[in-house]
Amino acid sequence: MKTKFKAFHLIVVVLSLCLGFAFQTPFLKIEDKDVALVLPPHFPKPIYKFKQNVPNANVFVLGRKLFYDDLLSKDNTVNCGTCHQRIAAFAHIDHALSHGIYAKIGTRNVPALQNLIWKDAFMWDGRVNDLESQPVNPITNPIEMDETMPSVIGKLKKSAAYKTLFFKAFQDCVITQDRILKSLAQFTGLMISANSRYDKYLIEKDSFNISEKKGLALFRQKCAVCHKEPLFTDNSYKNNGIVPDTALKDTGREKITGKKNDRFKFKVPGLRNIEMTYPYMHDGRFRNLQAVLAHYGNPNNFNSESDAALKKIGLLSPEEKKDIIAFLKTLTDKSFLYDRRFVDPGMGN
Ligand code: HEC
Ligand code: HEC
Repeated sequence: MKTKFKAFHLIVVVLSLCLGFAFQTPFLKIEDKDVALVLPPHFPKPIYKFKQNVPNANVFVLGRKLFYDDLLSKDNTVNCGTCHQRIAAFAHIDHALSHGIYAKIGTRNVPALQNLIWKDAFMWDGRVNDLESQPVNPITNPIEMDETMPSVIGKLKKSAAYKTLFFKAFQDCVITQDRILKSLAQFTGLMISANSRYDKYLIEKDSFNISEKKGLALFRQKCAVCHKEPLFTDNSYKNNGIVPDTALKDTGREKITGKKNDRFKFKVPGLRNIEMTYPYMHDGRFRNLQAVLAHYGNPNNFNSESDAALKKIGLLSPEEKKDIIAFLKTLTDKSFLYDRRFVDPGMGN
């Protein structure tokens, strides 16, 4: 009886320690209904199905806290959100190449984070094929966050706030790599953009002007072979004709497969929110959509290594380029860009 009482006492103390530090402002408050997986009816079946990681408010809140916490980097200066900015659909506005820890410049443009659960592989070269394990890459990359997972876990264990968050998420305070990764996967996996004007147009809830309509028709004729609707990628790797930047020595997909045939091929990026994710391409070489269309619209830019589909685009007139850009801008999804669930909780959680 006495030991039972002691055990009970201990549980109460641990519980109150765990829970005592939690606070959430109403704006940041997340409930289970906010994180229920709602699949857009016009999208295909996702690849990551949240099996054994069913979205739950407390796990999501933990993932959100981790995503925005500098503690994940060696000198506590860089977090995921440093490079992946919400207002740019989680790309890095105006940065051609990623900027990491110790002011180091990376070799690639930060991609947008959206509709990740429909991707079969991640990174420009597809070297990671699992959403859950993906964050280990930036955390341990010497020019991104330069940390180790055991050291991250050590730092988290020293934090009373995280004890609370882990307790709420997993009903005990044990901090493991698996739990860190699962919570980050809930946070990033729920970044779903499917409510742009284009989506509303598809279900006849919005209309396009003449230029946007012409742009969509041109896009379907010339671009959709790679940028397949509704995700605007077919998940393949292609050489889209941009001349390799010799300083970066980036051979793309070839680095992963070792196949010469994969040289300078990169994963076809989805184009949602493209208006907000500039600059463009794996090395951020194009500052705006006009420059992108100047590239695709001139057949002289393609050589024998470029994908055959590009030659079919032909010479694009200034009018056609304008129309395609007008259409691309219909892919901006304000409800995603301003989604309160993805806002940095700052000092709170
Ligand atoms: C220093 C900047 C930087 C930081 C910090 C960073 N990332 Fe990234 N992220 C990148 C870059 C650059 C790529 C593309 C890398 C490549 O293709 O080789 C990327 C790719 C990704 C991808 C793949 C997206 C896709 O569509 O293929 C995901 C997911 C991701 N990051 C999540 C995270 C998470 C979670 C964190 C924090 C743990 C994080 N990133 C921290 C720069 C960063
Ligand atoms: C042969 C396949 C293919 C075709 C056709 C194609 N693209 Fe691309 N597109 C790609 C690939 C691959 C990339 C990434 C290349 C890189 O970064 O090295 C890309 C990148 C882009 C980007 C930059 C995306 C970003 O996030 O940086 C835009 C914008 C774009 N394409 C628009 C278009 C438009 C508009 C058309 C039609 C005029 C088109 N594409 C036709 C394969 C294609």
